[in-house]
Amino acid sequence: MVYVLGIETSCDETAAAIISDKREILSNVVLSQLEEHAAYGGVVPEIAARSHLDNIDVIVRAALKDAKLQFDDIDAVAATCGPGLIGGVMIGMMTGKAIAAAKNIPFLAINHLEGHALTPRLSDDVPFPYLLLLVSGGHTQILIVENAGIYKRLGTTLDDAAGECFDKSGKLMGLAYPGGPNVEKMALLCRDKDEAIKRFPLPRPLLENKSGRNKNSYDFSFSGLKSAVRASVESLPEGELQKKDIADLSYSLQSAISDVLYDRCKNALGYYLDLYKDSIIKPSLVVAGGVSANMVIRKNLQLLCEDAGRDKGCEIAFSAPPLSLCTDNAAMIAWAGIERLNAGL
Ligand code: KG4
Ligand code: ZN
Repeated sequence: MVYVLGIETSCDETAAAIISDKREILSNVVLSQLEEHAAYGGVVPEIAARSHLDNIDVIVRAALKDAKLQFDDIDAVAATCGPGLIGGVMIGMMTGKAIAAAKNIPFLAINHLEGHALTPRLSDDVPFPYLLLLVSGGHTQILIVENAGIYKRLGTTLDDAAGECFDKSGKLMGLAYPGGPNVEKMALLCRDKDEAIKRFPLPRPLLENKSGRNKNSYDFSFSGLKSAVRASVESLPEGELQKKDIADLSYSLQSAISDVLYDRCKNALGYYLDLYKDSIIKPSLVVAGGVSANMVIRKNLQLLCEDAGRDKGCEIAFSAPPLSLCTDNAAMIAWAGIERLNAGL
């Protein structure tokens, strides 16, 4: 059995986890800095870095304790080495390198996005190649994951990420950071969905734009949607927003984001199925990254797989990691380390 210690410090979670090459999560410790950043309405890089520095040793020890293992039992260390806020990245990376050097074991430098991208193989053993919608606070991409380290990017955002759109729109409505989960909670309070969409009709950027440059596009654009939310907020009477206004606008925003993700994944599914039609074992669409914790988005993508499967006459599997593996964590980093070890990287 191979045990890998994973370390994640690229944003506002100090996290450590131990995973075996048999897909066992022996421990998965995540310390969120939410409260430290709350007053600023977003992550402050300097505060994040200092908090990682204060906590990383305690969190690594906690991961070992939960797994009932010692440093001597660990076969390799994997740490996020980018992208991310550089202060935090350096703290996790140097901690990992120090442990690997002291114990004379391999150190694996992991790209944070690769951690999200390979998570469905940890949770569901999804076979390569699969279509991936990667939706986080910093990225919105559609990729074909061919193997560990081999990614074909079909589309990306031209401006903001989907998570950023949730967060900034949430802030405009007076919701706490991160906006995504709070917008989802408020949308659940919306009583009349049709009325909400009529009150706050929001654009679906690039939706079904089959002409010219965006023909069959796999790209996204969210900054106009955020501006439309701002205009909606400004159209309301001055002062604090009413709960009903926030619930309706949250519902309309979540629907718009979900529709756009559905549309672009539909385009990409067509391309992916055509590309691998003779060789694929199990066609799969997977969603990963913080925004994939959203239940409406998950449900719509599941429906897309069912609809597209009927159209194409094949079964398309849908996979979304458990919520604890959607937002930032170190289990995904340790798992990416195991995948890279297995691939001889
Ligand atoms: O992957 P992640 O934890 O960090 C990055 O790598 O960016 O993603 C964080 C993002 C935030 O924008 C947050 O608002 C969003 O994921 N998010 C959600 C939900 N939970 C987290 N967005 C929509 N609905 C949710 N339930
Ligand atoms: Zn992330």
